[in-house]
Amino acid sequence: MQITITGLKKHYHSEGKTIRALDGVNLTIEANKIFTLLGPSGCGKTTLLRCIVGLETPDEGEIKIGDTIVWSNEKNIYVPTEKRELGMVFQTYAIWPHMNVFNNVAYPLQNMKMPKDEIAKRVAKTLKFVQLEGFENRPATRLSGGQQQRVALARALVAEPKVILFDEPLSNLDAKLREETRKELRMFLGELGITAVYVTHDRVEALALSDMIGVMRAGNIVELGTPKKIYFDADHQFVADFIGRANLIPAKVTEETSEHSLVTTAIGSVVCQKRSFDPSDELTLCIRPEFLDFKPASDAINRITGVVEQMVFVGEVYESEIRVGTELIFAKLDPQTTLKEGDHVTFSMKPEHCLLVSR
Ligand SMILES: Nc1ncnc2c1ncn2[C@@H]1O[C@H](COP(=O)(O)OP(=O)(O)OP(=O)(O)O)[C@@H](O)[C@H]1O
Ligand SMILES: [Mg+2]
Repeated sequence: MQITITGLKKHYHSEGKTIRALDGVNLTIEANKIFTLLGPSGCGKTTLLRCIVGLETPDEGEIKIGDTIVWSNEKNIYVPTEKRELGMVFQTYAIWPHMNVFNNVAYPLQNMKMPKDEIAKRVAKTLKFVQLEGFENRPATRLSGGQQQRVALARALVAEPKVILFDEPLSNLDAKLREETRKELRMFLGELGITAVYVTHDRVEALALSDMIGVMRAGNIVELGTPKKIYFDADHQFVADFIGRANLIPAKVTEETSEHSLVTTAIGSVVCQKRSFDPSDELTLCIRPEFLDFKPASDAINRITGVVEQMVFVGEVYESEIRVGTELIFAKLDPQTTLKEGDHVTFSMKPEHCLLVSR
């Protein structure tokens, strides 16, 4: 089911200050896709999710789930949480420690006063789906973190919601388990084919899980796009920087052809991919470290020379800092490289990898 959010505002008042947790959010979340809200701590992700679910009352705007308006201040509409047909998985394991797995999962159906045999059927089906068959009688506390998270997922799914929402569901798991659970989740959600709204501030999780990502900052959505669009082709410096390591250098356009822009920067003139901007925009050149070519042809475009200032071996690559004028360029080098600190080095950057973003 599609979710449409229009002009959504939510302000909190605390200690005489107004906090604009949501500052006029406009957003369409496509049906049957995994949509991720990504952004730094405090940018309003949880607030937006809670407004969609109905646990928080916005100040202004409208929320539509499918064709149904579930909240609108103008039209004076409020559909309570339990009538929105949503499932939700929280950051902390919201499972009940005093109940066994079966009762944890059955709880929403018992609340709906569903007949017992129907509940048994649905719980069995859901537990099979999350691969917890045979765990029915296990006390919920005697499960691994990943299994507990799957119980929470099963409970969110058992009532067959139209939309499922997740608020940082993996952040309490250790790194390895987080990666495994992320893969499982991707698989489960793919099979289910329902609309999923996923909140995280972990960029790798967002890239790995999502069909679409919405990057948030200070109560607004800054940019929307597929993981590849956000990573390779962001429009804003904030987004390019948040989604992965990038070299960000202030740039001014001096010349334009049909395909390219020539910019001046602290590392010299650089030929970039052409993009259109508002004339008032200040621009930044963005180059991901993996795109620096340390074996440049003699006639390569954008050849730049610098001095290796730091080399740190981290396993799959050397993370290196190269001094070019006043800038330090971050690069990832082949672990077999013979380069060492103090060496002069020349690298090149293809124009299509030199991205201009607005500051
Ligand atoms: N009940 C509340 N009262 C006052 N301020 C609040 C309340 N809830 C949230 N806020 C503020 O609203 C802003 C957005 O909070 P929110 O919880 O939505 O952020 P978030 O993006 O989920 O952050 P995190 O990644 O840390 O979970 C923050 O500045 C927060 O301090
Ligand atoms: Mg939050």
